[in-house]
Amino acid sequence: MNKIKLLFSIDGEGRPEYEVFFQDKQVVQPSRLGFVLQEDSAFYRDFELVGTERATFDQTWQPVWGETKNIRNHYNEMTIHLRRKANPSLLLDLVFRVFEDGVGFRYRFPKQANLTYFVVKNELTQFNMTGDHNTFWIPGDYDTNEYSYTLSKLSAVDNKELVEKSTDIAVRVAPDPYAVQTPLMMKTANGVYINVHEAALLNYPAMQLHVDRATYSLSSSLVPDAVGNKAYLHAPFSTPWRTIIISDKATDILASKTVLNLNEPSKIQNTSWIKPMKFVGVWWEMQIGKSTWSYSDFADSTDAQGRPIPNNRHGATTANVKRYIDFAAKNGIRGVLVEGWNTGWEDWFGKWKEDVFDFVTPYPDFDINEVMSYAKSKGVSIIMHNETSGSATNYERRLDTAFRFMKEHGYNSVKTGYVGKIIPRGEHHDGQWMINHYTRVAEKGAQYQVMIDVHEPMRPTGLQRTYPNWMASEAARGNEYNGFSVGNAPSHETILPFTRLMGGPMDYTPGIFKIQGYSNVPGRQVHSTLAKQLALYVTLYSPLQMAADLIENYETHMDAFRFIKDVPVDWDDTKIINAEPGEYLTIARKEKNKNNWFAGAITNENKRTATIPLSFLDKGKKYTATVYADAPNADWKNNPEAYTISSQTVTSETVLSIPLAAGGGAAISIMAPDGK
Ligand code: NOJ
Ligand code: CA
Repeated sequence: MNKIKLLFSIDGEGRPEYEVFFQDKQVVQPSRLGFVLQEDSAFYRDFELVGTERATFDQTWQPVWGETKNIRNHYNEMTIHLRRKANPSLLLDLVFRVFEDGVGFRYRFPKQANLTYFVVKNELTQFNMTGDHNTFWIPGDYDTNEYSYTLSKLSAVDNKELVEKSTDIAVRVAPDPYAVQTPLMMKTANGVYINVHEAALLNYPAMQLHVDRATYSLSSSLVPDAVGNKAYLHAPFSTPWRTIIISDKATDILASKTVLNLNEPSKIQNTSWIKPMKFVGVWWEMQIGKSTWSYSDFADSTDAQGRPIPNNRHGATTANVKRYIDFAAKNGIRGVLVEGWNTGWEDWFGKWKEDVFDFVTPYPDFDINEVMSYAKSKGVSIIMHNETSGSATNYERRLDTAFRFMKEHGYNSVKTGYVGKIIPRGEHHDGQWMINHYTRVAEKGAQYQVMIDVHEPMRPTGLQRTYPNWMASEAARGNEYNGFSVGNAPSHETILPFTRLMGGPMDYTPGIFKIQGYSNVPGRQVHSTLAKQLALYVTLYSPLQMAADLIENYETHMDAFRFIKDVPVDWDDTKIINAEPGEYLTIARKEKNKNNWFAGAITNENKRTATIPLSFLDKGKKYTATVYADAPNADWKNNPEAYTISSQTVTSETVLSIPLAAGGGAAISIMAPDGK
């Protein structure tokens, strides 16, 4: 299709292969396909072609929420039917889709007499690159994506040191030093951008990529289960799609809807209860050590009457939560997240303990009925928090009880979490068992009409199309790392949209205004200016977006907080104005059902000027643009909180030119008269 061409062939030994071209230049060299199955160790050769089918698809659909109102799904499809010449003979289909910006392909095991229940020992999919590309990568860890990115040549990929040094990550299991996570973002010497990922990850383990540093061959490496197998399947079965997005423009990569298009339409019929929102919460204060999730300092710490002994630093008290409700109500923020409201936090971490939380018992100083009726009276929603501590078995046993409890108390959304080693013991966060667990929780949420935000799951693969109540996930290194660790480099947020966010929205928790001096640890700070924190509301899309800082830090900067108040979380249109991974990006978005636009521009550690032509505005109309910019002397390290706010009248002819400080950014609201 247009610039993208895919070629399928079977070599002399009956091995299926594909290759991909961009503008008639090869970007993926002939690459093998196939499996090692428990039932057939050579399910990758001696195949013969039985038939092919071709189809073209062109349809536009509307997501329940998202970055654009309409999404065009346009592809040419070729299905290859293969038969393996073995005794007995076995069948395999390959489905290829070629889009304007890349390709997707999946394996389909048709229903067949001789392969019904089977075990995947290995998937052998290759993505053979044509050169030693520049690559933005994080280690191929079976349990976490919470790493800083490295930019290196493919030949220099080695995650060993990074994994060993990541003391701030609870679980680290990365046995292959040359494995990386997807979405993997690469750039060739000729300036072609290539992004490899997967779509519709259901009932199958996550795919990591093993890098052959000599040949630049990337090969699928599936996350194993507790006994070393990869997947237990029952034909007919279709694997997730393997995706390759390709363009000579970095902006096209960010605009791609291919991953989303490869997912099935919504399984939820009535979606009227699914509502994007912003939220504040009792959260950052725990991240920076100002208060605690737990009520007591130790497990089993009780007085003579058997009552828990308070540590008097507990964050989720009725009074503190009410303060957040008041602030949210006053500023038009719809949600308040409350973490640490329930019993179990005294020994939740690092014990590999199965029965940690029951998800229904509040601490004595959190009056759930009072909090919920107060929130209701103020028109604010409280966001439930279900940390599982990685004990998925415990959560599953209590899932119905937990969701019923939410509904009885008026909650319509939950943030879940999976910190630590998984139970069932031996399973990994990104293995087939856990992939199915996250899916079950999303389905349970749909059944109870509860929106979900998952921390520490596998990285997203566009499933928000199928489960639009699965609003956001973390699954990367969030802003919270600036709270409790050495933090994130200024380039981090310029890489995330090209990597982690290619799969779906991220709960990054932007909006830290007090950039320095929030921690007792000397030198600790957010590696960003305040203005950049505002820009992130536009550049890192999520339908759930937190204003993460403490109320008191907002109250001293209400002029800047205005942008967070105004910025929407649901959009009719998105324009990627400019972008270069690891360097900078500027995105403008149009508010849902309104004619207001919002833009965010960010840079890495280098200062530069963002040039933003406003040609997307309606011709001839006058808008009021308010620019929240770094002050002239701002700098992420030495003067991060210095910003300026200025307003001007703009039209579609205007070109804004805004200086960005080192580690800085700018946020712009562009309001139409009466929003129309
Ligand atoms: C890690 C999550 O990312 C964070 O947001 C949460 O506060 C803690 N776990 C506790 O659940
Ligand atoms: Ca986390």
